[in-house]
Amino acid sequence: MYVYLNGDYLPLEEARISPEDRGFLFADGAYEVFHAYEGRFFRAEGHLQRMARSLRELRIDGPDLDQLRDVAETLVRKNNLEQGNAVVYMQITRGAAPRKHAFPPNDTPPTVYAKAYPHTPPRDLQEQGISAILAPDIRWTRCDIKSVALLPNVLAHQRAKDSGAHEVIFVRDGMLTEGALTNVCAVFDGRLVTYPKSPYILAGITRGAVLELCEMLNVPVEEVPILEKNLPRADELMICNTTSEILPVTRVNDNPVGNGKPGPITRALQQAYREATRS
Ligand code: PDD
Repeated sequence: MYVYLNGDYLPLEEARISPEDRGFLFADGAYEVFHAYEGRFFRAEGHLQRMARSLRELRIDGPDLDQLRDVAETLVRKNNLEQGNAVVYMQITRGAAPRKHAFPPNDTPPTVYAKAYPHTPPRDLQEQGISAILAPDIRWTRCDIKSVALLPNVLAHQRAKDSGAHEVIFVRDGMLTEGALTNVCAVFDGRLVTYPKSPYILAGITRGAVLELCEMLNVPVEEVPILEKNLPRADELMICNTTSEILPVTRVNDNPVGNGKPGPITRALQQAYREATRS
């Protein structure tokens, strides 16, 4: 397997990162996850623009986007991943320097790492649906940045796994914000409801695609918070991200959502999303 590190394509086993890398010491970096279908990236531009935004907000001077696009495409080619599905993980940190909170000298190069690997979207979960738990959203108030500082997400997601659930959904001030690695949408009386773009959620690329598909399918959308107290009235609930696409949530904290089965709007969106990834 060839990975990309700071200008070179090399076997994973040969890739070396300094223990003084600020990604390691401070989680001082940003990342993206791309999904290629038969060698073609879905919404690559959105992911690249979001990487640029994350880096801007973190004041990291990264490579230009054409170079990052080329890295992602080259990794898919070099690893013979043009057939089937593949994921590219890309991470950029503020580089390696002796540990000081203040930024390192301006001439410190960022660390740029990327890896491509085969991926199978979870078709069984897409079909059957998943269960989720709720947990307090104890994260910082810049969740709009795709930072590699993911410890609250990791801990809460593990709590879900420990309890036999697939994902955790964060609750802030009585409102469902998003999952540990997914955005969340509910359906109430035929309307799709999802937390508005804000510093409290990551503006998911899949979320964006879902909202566009709603327009195509004539499903009204309200970008307003889903209130925890209204969950028992939700007809459908779903989570979405780049790797899992759209998953119906059929149980929350052991209570069924709606009739406990994936609902018709979730199904229509899954179908439309699948078609969009093929076109
Ligand atoms: N996570 N919210 C959070 C906190 C996320 O980490 C992600 C993605 C999303 C969905 O974003 P998108 O639709 O652009 O994938 C929402 C990736 C997949 C991950 O960390 O692996």
